[in-house]
Amino acid sequence: MMQTYQIPHTELTVTRLGYGCMKIGGNWSESPLSAEEKTAAYKIITTALDSGINFFDHADIYTRGKSEQIFGLFLADHPGLRENIVLQSKCGIRFPGDPNTSDPGRYDFSYEHIVRSVEGSLHRLQTDYLDLLLLHRPDPLFEPEEVARAFAELHSSGKVHYFGVSNHSGAQISLLQKFCDQRLVVNQLELNLLHHGMISEGILVNQPESEFPASAGVLDYCRLHGILVQAWSPVAGGNLINPSAQADPKVQRTADEIARLAAQKGASREAIALGWLLRHPAGVQPLIGTTKLERLVASIQADRIQLSREEWYALLVAARGVPVP
Ligand SMILES: NC(=O)c1ccc[n+]([C@@H]2O[C@H](COP(=O)([O-])OP(=O)(O)OC[C@H]3O[C@@H](n4cnc5c(N)ncnc54)[C@H](OP(=O)(O)O)[C@@H]3O)[C@@H](O)[C@H]2O)c1
Repeated sequence: MMQTYQIPHTELTVTRLGYGCMKIGGNWSESPLSAEEKTAAYKIITTALDSGINFFDHADIYTRGKSEQIFGLFLADHPGLRENIVLQSKCGIRFPGDPNTSDPGRYDFSYEHIVRSVEGSLHRLQTDYLDLLLLHRPDPLFEPEEVARAFAELHSSGKVHYFGVSNHSGAQISLLQKFCDQRLVVNQLELNLLHHGMISEGILVNQPESEFPASAGVLDYCRLHGILVQAWSPVAGGNLINPSAQADPKVQRTADEIARLAAQKGASREAIALGWLLRHPAGVQPLIGTTKLERLVASIQADRIQLSREEWYALLVAARGVPVP
């Protein structure tokens, strides 16, 4: 059994590790799902479930809807499963050419787009409700009142139980929250040992060498407001485990430190990379993205890993390439 906790301000009990479904639909082309893609997706979903994972992350755009579609087929083939898992999806990104060929890629938090996107996700996922809906990336043209209206309607109709955001700053969350009756309970952010700015900025306050100005205290903001932080790309797309021969020295150094600790602790390298995120007191939920069964099983070991303060800092120092000031 994997360890679980309740997402603050919700009735959702989730596993410490979630599974990210971005790649289960095969490729991002317009081509329909193939039988091979369906078989591969069923195997990885089954392995995730057998490993105890109860949390699955989607987005309307993943592999152009095919990831949700394949997951919906799986749910239809497994009656009773829906009530025992937590399903999250996202909306707000539109591809170029949607719907007119001349339309650029863009973000769209309009009432119409949010509601239409959720209807599409529910249809593809073959379910009546999403446990969580996130706004995928900040839309500079968003009108908070309009998002609030969409959220209120989706909530009162029972189509979405809880709401959150992804890739948002604390100030952006505050602005949206001011207008929304529904509490924002999740912020999904890129976070891993090669993308540690949100952590490093906290030890470089007022340091002239700080190279991390952008996220502006978002981790502390989420802790302060009881917002669950989810980590996307938790193993940096595989770079923390198998860096390429041409990898930047800091990537190689971090992967070497992960491998050293893994050998020392008799654990998988995935467990060390994910365990580094789990060790952070913000209560980070990593979203595992591999489509390989053996890598998923190796990742699950993270649930049992305990990293000491010294091990955690050794990894951060390797990634930063300089000691803490
Ligand atoms: N909110 C956002 O903006 C956002 C953005 C991106 C992702 N996400 C979410 O976060 C989830 C995870 O993101 P991610 O897929 O970038 O995470 P990730 O787990 O860091 O990366 C997965 C990628 O790395 C490869 N990989 C994993 N382990 C490897 C290893 N040991 N050696 C070599 N390659 C390895 C995988 O290939 P294999 O499949 O071949 O193992 C896959 O291509 C997604 O599924 C999605 O749900 C959210």
